[in-house]
Amino acid sequence: MKKFIVIGNPIKHSLSPLVHNYWFEQNMIEATYEKVLVEEKGLEDVIQNIRQEKIVGANVTVPFKQKIIPLLDELSEVALKTSSVNTVYKKNNKIIGDNTDVFGFQNSLAELVPNKIIQSVLLIGAGGVSPSIVQALKNVSTNKVIIANRTKEKFEVLKNKFGPLVQQILWDDLRHKKFDVDLVVNSTSLGLEKKEDLNFNFSSVNKSTVFYDVIYNPVQTSFLKQAEAQGHQVINGLKMFLYQALKAFQIWNKISPTIDKQLLQLVKKKLHD
Ligand code: ATR
Repeated sequence: MKKFIVIGNPIKHSLSPLVHNYWFEQNMIEATYEKVLVEEKGLEDVIQNIRQEKIVGANVTVPFKQKIIPLLDELSEVALKTSSVNTVYKKNNKIIGDNTDVFGFQNSLAELVPNKIIQSVLLIGAGGVSPSIVQALKNVSTNKVIIANRTKEKFEVLKNKFGPLVQQILWDDLRHKKFDVDLVVNSTSLGLEKKEDLNFNFSSVNKSTVFYDVIYNPVQTSFLKQAEAQGHQVINGLKMFLYQALKAFQIWNKISPTIDKQLLQLVKKKLHD
């Protein structure tokens, strides 16, 4: 029986086991996928288990997507570009780190806003997932990404990677500046805890601006609720999550699974439980 895991901290709410185990069954693959809560000092053991083939593949989530990198032998091109790894496996005796979040974000846009030309974007947040979002936007030929983050220093990491594509604004600018952008993405963890809120001025954007929140649990953050109430198209992080899982499954199993109706129903039911 092949064993796969997702590691993170916290990890309780991960839906990855549900999705991967659904696809294992659908594709008649004898494998299990479990969530494992780890501390930073436990990362080495995980890599050791992959080396010894006790574990075939691991997904990596918050807060280890960067921290895992020094323990790996090789990075894929996209993991290198983003310095972010969410998929690990062994190939030719080497432990490889890959990034499927870029694919996830890009494919969610391709599915949900297929005809939208996304030239300029306001990205709120510069945390762990932001390099993957900027890389995906770069791939779809976005030419301006305006970034607001509470901690200004984190912008420098993105500036070093993406150069003139990214521009910084102040956190407080979100409350009063006007934004002529095609897409606004919230990549902060605000909205995870229902009590906290983003102070965004929704009258500062065009009616055609699409709002995207990478959070999918809750299904609709108050940020998206407000945007929708103002008549904007809104997207939550569910499709990004499912597409990153699909790509990881492909890498590990050399099979392309489908995000079918039954899977969507299962996931949505779990989110509403
Ligand atoms: P990580 O960097 O591991 O992805 P995180 O701590 O969950 O994780 O933070 C993700 C993003 O949410 C960051 O942009 C963070 O801003 P800082 O860089 O200033 O920490 C943002 N964030 C979290 N709580 C916030 C808050 N109360 N106000 C504004 N931004 C917040």
